[in-house]
Amino acid sequence: MAVTLTVHDSQYPQRVSEQLRHGLRARRLPGKFLYDSPAQAQRWLAYHQAYAPSRTAAALLDLYQQAFQTALRALASPPLHYVSLGCGGGMKDALCLTQAIQQGAPVLFTPMDASVALVLETLLRVQPWLADLTTAPLVVDFDSRPDLSAWLAQHETPRHRRLLGCFGMLPNVDYRSFLPYLRSLMRPGDLVLLSANLSPGLYAEAVGRILPQYDNPYAHAWYTGALTSLGLALEQIHLSVQPHLLRPDGHLWQIQAVAVIQQALQLVLDGEHVALSAGESIDVFFSTRFTPEVMPEVLAESGLTLLHSWLCATHEEGLYLCARSSV
Ligand SMILES: C[S@@+](CC[C@H](N)C(=O)[O-])C[C@H]1O[C@@H](n2cnc3c(N)ncnc32)[C@H](O)[C@@H]1O
Repeated sequence: MAVTLTVHDSQYPQRVSEQLRHGLRARRLPGKFLYDSPAQAQRWLAYHQAYAPSRTAAALLDLYQQAFQTALRALASPPLHYVSLGCGGGMKDALCLTQAIQQGAPVLFTPMDASVALVLETLLRVQPWLADLTTAPLVVDFDSRPDLSAWLAQHETPRHRRLLGCFGMLPNVDYRSFLPYLRSLMRPGDLVLLSANLSPGLYAEAVGRILPQYDNPYAHAWYTGALTSLGLALEQIHLSVQPHLLRPDGHLWQIQAVAVIQQALQLVLDGEHVALSAGESIDVFFSTRFTPEVMPEVLAESGLTLLHSWLCATHEEGLYLCARSSV
């Protein structure tokens, strides 16, 4: 099978290189570099397979099925444009598309991700339905909050309604600017279904349960893989994974993975020398946790009206179906 992918200019090599150099000058690895190469995509898939609740808990998959069913019903069977932001391996998108195609309405499908390898993975996963879909796969970086209105509208008729699917993204982005960006991709009548990694209780009671999911050999291989691909050797870094409180009331907190440099060194990135001293640290990864109680407030602040939510039994993941608020 041959597929055609479009690469948005936000993912052109020069932009990507500049983002990386800019990030490292600020001692921060931009999140997409954890997924960017085929090797990192494979490390993430292995970690995800071993630890992410969706692949380990059939009940959670069932929750996704219910959520897609409600979302598709709420859209009342118009021609559907299903847009997946940060599609990853496309497993959840396949669940949605199966249901949508069964309903018989024509479906447009726009998978988007910064990783070429993962957009391809998604297309391979939905291959059985490709004949019934019009697809517009896009390799794009959301960090620059690109204007995608023309891309999204290209195959739509005025009757099309968009369902945005956004799973696993919210924890790893600045949600205060990303949620309004999601909203900007919606028109009146469109819906978004998004997942959040939840804190099953306030910080103090939940942290001991959540931390091991991010501090394990698969996760470490994924974090350090991104650093070694920049030229750092494993013995030059010490990686630690720590929790960090974001709101004193314990409703919002983060897990942060930080690499501490063990000896002074120089990285050479596209001709630029970045000097790192012993003891300096690089922020490699973060994952934000929200309590179920705080989520409606977080969504409302970003102009999203919560229509329906689903919590998995462990209260570690939630799904949120939202419309665009009018103001
Ligand atoms: C945790 S994974 C979730 C994948 C999939 N939606 C799922 O739930 O299985 C996050 C995805 O977002 C993508 N991503 C991360 N940062 C991105 C960015 N700045 N722009 C576009 N995609 C990004 C990654 O490549 C990865 O596929």
